[in-house]
Amino acid sequence: MEQRLEWLQIDSLDLQARGVGRSENGKVVFVDYALPTERVQTRITRSKRNWESGEAVAWANTASSRVTPRCPHFGVCGGCSMQHVDPAAQLAFKQRILEDDFWHLSRLRPQTLLRPIAGPNWGYRARARLTVRLVPKKGGVLVGFHEKGSSYVADMRSCDILPKAVSDLLLPLRELIAGLSRPERAPQIELAMGDRVTALVLRHLEPLTDADRQRLRDFGRKHGVQWWLQPKGPDSVVPLDDDVEPLSYVLPEFGVVMPFRPTDFTQVNPQINRVMVARALRLLGARRTDRVIDWFCGLGNFTLPIATQARQVLGVEGSATLVARALDNALYNGLQDRVSFTARNLFEMNADDLRAYGEADLWLVDPPRDGALALCKALAEAVNGPLHADEKQAVENSQAMPEHATLPEPFRPPRRIVYVSCNPATLARDAGLLVHQAGYTLRAAGVMNMFPHTAHVESMAVFERD
Ligand SMILES: C[S@@+](CC[C@H](N)C(=O)[O-])C[C@H]1O[C@@H](n2cnc3c(N)ncnc32)[C@H](O)[C@@H]1O
Repeated sequence: MEQRLEWLQIDSLDLQARGVGRSENGKVVFVDYALPTERVQTRITRSKRNWESGEAVAWANTASSRVTPRCPHFGVCGGCSMQHVDPAAQLAFKQRILEDDFWHLSRLRPQTLLRPIAGPNWGYRARARLTVRLVPKKGGVLVGFHEKGSSYVADMRSCDILPKAVSDLLLPLRELIAGLSRPERAPQIELAMGDRVTALVLRHLEPLTDADRQRLRDFGRKHGVQWWLQPKGPDSVVPLDDDVEPLSYVLPEFGVVMPFRPTDFTQVNPQINRVMVARALRLLGARRTDRVIDWFCGLGNFTLPIATQARQVLGVEGSATLVARALDNALYNGLQDRVSFTARNLFEMNADDLRAYGEADLWLVDPPRDGALALCKALAEAVNGPLHADEKQAVENSQAMPEHATLPEPFRPPRRIVYVSCNPATLARDAGLLVHQAGYTLRAAGVMNMFPHTAHVESMAVFERD
């Protein structure tokens, strides 16, 4: 197909950090690496009925937010999509997405915008999943992230979003895997860093030989990392050797230490996590007399700090493994009298389930990308009685709700909810329910640059009932 060239004015960025303009034929065009305010000559490489996409081949001007990407693999590696944008502008862009989602999905504006939380722009990833592939054409084993939009592994020799000590391991890891008995049967290495210990989890599809184990051991000693092995699913992960120092991180403001295993969910960016937990707790404002529920509590990242301030905290979480870890961590920190944990699928909740957990003064909600729809619906229902069919439809369409008749309250809802989100679209949808159905006000919201140089938006919102 002949590829058309066209000059376009770029007005905004899409969720993958592509510039968005409009072509002469009226279609929206997504342009890789183009930024708002730029006029770019675009080679259209894909044309659909309503939209087109392409790549910028020449610039008439460059945006003031444009910077030179630091990484030589940028553009090929799929790990980062925004290294060409100044970090402050990245945060502004994420803030804009959050505000737009609140408005377009639920007709909401936060009463206050929280100052964005920024941390180190480089070396921040304490967790990563590296793909390993034997590619004889490229000279042996590759270890790294996938190439952009492809299942190939990027031929990366360093990675500046990984801590330097880990980035420096990328080439030695290639050599290590190439020397194993079945290098083509070791498809993945997962990184998990605690404050003092770095763990690497090797996924291997064939049993390792004694010589393989010794190689791993020698590598671990030389580079100061501990190896874990994963022969099957996530539950099969075991340390290579028994005498490993446990991974842990500290939340110093609360005097809490969190031991974890390398495959447990922990936040990717430990510096931002510390600030995020502190801000969430300040916004939550727990009093000594409060009962708090921490929904999607994981290993207790928020639960245990809250327990240092409140009377009682209940943590609810889908993974039984994480619930067990959270209990261990409560004991480890001497907080067991103030917390309890329970495992449950929170994507299936109704008002009766909610009542069974008892009333709470405050909620912390930190769901995965899908959000907390069932939980928010259950709360709205507990507050109001069952939703009417038209309201249910409106919820599904994520639109503003009609004013609901006030019914006698059978359930005392939490006075404040702090919602931590890794997907602004589901946060905005759930916010619509909390405000239009459950009688909350969206007091404040803001973004955190948990994942600099990616288009990933992490945010926090505060809801209150008067
Ligand atoms: C964003 S993480 C937050 C964990 C924790 N609050 C933290 O800061 O480390 C989301 C948590 O939701 C849990 N989860 C995912 N799907 C779930 C479900 N359907 N029901 C309950 N929990 C779920 C995950 O296991 C994970 O621990």
